Amino acid sequence: MLKINKLIISASIAASAALLMTACNSGATASGAAHSGATAAQTAYANGKAVIDGGVIYPVVNGKTADYVVDMQAENTTFDYGRTPTANELAAWNTDVTPHKAPPAGSGSVEDGEMLYEDQCVMCHGDFGSGGGGYPSLAKGKGSNLKKTLTNQRFDPNADGPTRVFGSYWPHASTMWWYIHDGMPHPKSKSLSIDETYALTAYMLNINEIEVDGQVADQDFVLDQDNFSKIVMPNVDGFEPKIDGPEGVENVRKYYADNTNFGGQKVNPSERCMKDCLEPTAKEVKISGTGISDFLPPISTVRDLPVEEGAVVPGAADYEVSCAVCHGAAGMGAPVVGDKAAWAAVAEKGPEAILANSINGLNAMPPRGGTDLSDAKLKDIVNYMINASK
Ligand code: HEC
Ligand code: HEC
Repeated sequence: MLKINKLIISASIAASAALLMTACNSGATASGAAHSGATAAQTAYANGKAVIDGGVIYPVVNGKTADYVVDMQAENTTFDYGRTPTANELAAWNTDVTPHKAPPAGSGSVEDGEMLYEDQCVMCHGDFGSGGGGYPSLAKGKGSNLKKTLTNQRFDPNADGPTRVFGSYWPHASTMWWYIHDGMPHPKSKSLSIDETYALTAYMLNINEIEVDGQVADQDFVLDQDNFSKIVMPNVDGFEPKIDGPEGVENVRKYYADNTNFGGQKVNPSERCMKDCLEPTAKEVKISGTGISDFLPPISTVRDLPVEEGAVVPGAADYEVSCAVCHGAAGMGAPVVGDKAAWAAVAEKGPEAILANSINGLNAMPPRGGTDLSDAKLKDIVNYMINASK
């Protein structure tokens, strides 16, 4: 509450200041006066403006705060914060590993990797990377099993895609090294040394039977910065489009030029569709200026539910038995059911009066039509007679 009170008071002081000062000080700007040492807020006051918050100034016009203006003074100020980072500082951040940027110098053996794995990874990723417990498998399906195309299986659902493990869907080993170093073990990421990361990566190559320089990484294998670039990920050629190499960009362009590569469907596969195209199957609603203008398929304009064959219309059967003898045809002095003009005249009396006449009788119309039908049944019959005469 205190804060709000203060705000109101300062706004009203500013408002009176505005009245006093507009005549003599109307030309000065906030930034112009600020150079003489006053703060932006003081300057704004001097100009009859109320500073409400931060860099936003609400000008006061005729004693009322008007639309705000941004305090450019605050933006133009040079703050003496920070400095250019040194080359060493930049290097400390620039630690990612990519296909074009090898991991830092170091080495690690499959043997050491296995020990580290048993110690820090097996509880989540299972024995020999077999997965389980909801954590990803790190080695399922070895060798040729990993070398299956990753072409969209949607178009050939029976096609046997590769098992999804890093051996099949990571084209470069750099991703593995960096992933382990930066993200694993899950609860204590960034805790592995460079050599430990080499060792764990070597173990991953081993349990996936991945080749390095033409040789499967066996139990004695040691991975280091030199042979790292000779790892051949099994599925490096299985990716679509192929983004690596001199043709990379062109491959990507071609791939995206054909929308059937990523889920589009050709209406008529042999030619572009100008006629005899398939009807679109998706429902469509068109919206123009004032609202919904069109539906596909067209919206139904039928508002009455169709009367089903054999459906019971209340009152119809009783009418036939008890009333049709006088109301079914002209000549009996009774309004004929189906005669619109006659029933329009009746309808003017209102439903209650009509029902009362049916119950009590009217002239040649006997009470209850000469029956002992209940009020409710008579009501149904009367409704039927009226509806059938519309
Ligand atoms: C507490 C559980 C846990 C531990 C311990 C753990 N991980 Fe993981 N790991 C995960 C989870 C969860 C993911 C998936 C993360 C995601 O997809 O975002 C993962 C993903 C990975 C992947 C990528 C798999 C893929 O197919 O994308 C690798 C490689 C990996 N972990 C290696 C290791 C290694 C090596 C260790 C031991 C140093 C380790 N993890 C320890 C939980 C764990
Ligand atoms: C014996 C012949 C006869 C029978 C049977 C008969 N009516 Fe009528 N009904 C008349 C005549 C005649 C009138 C016209 C009365 C008038 O307007 O003077 C009439 C008028 C009516 C009116 C119009 C009342 C009004 O306020 O104008 C209703 C409704 C009506 N009958 C319902 C029934 C129903 C329901 C039955 C069967 C249960 C029935 N009638 C059976 C002869 C009959």
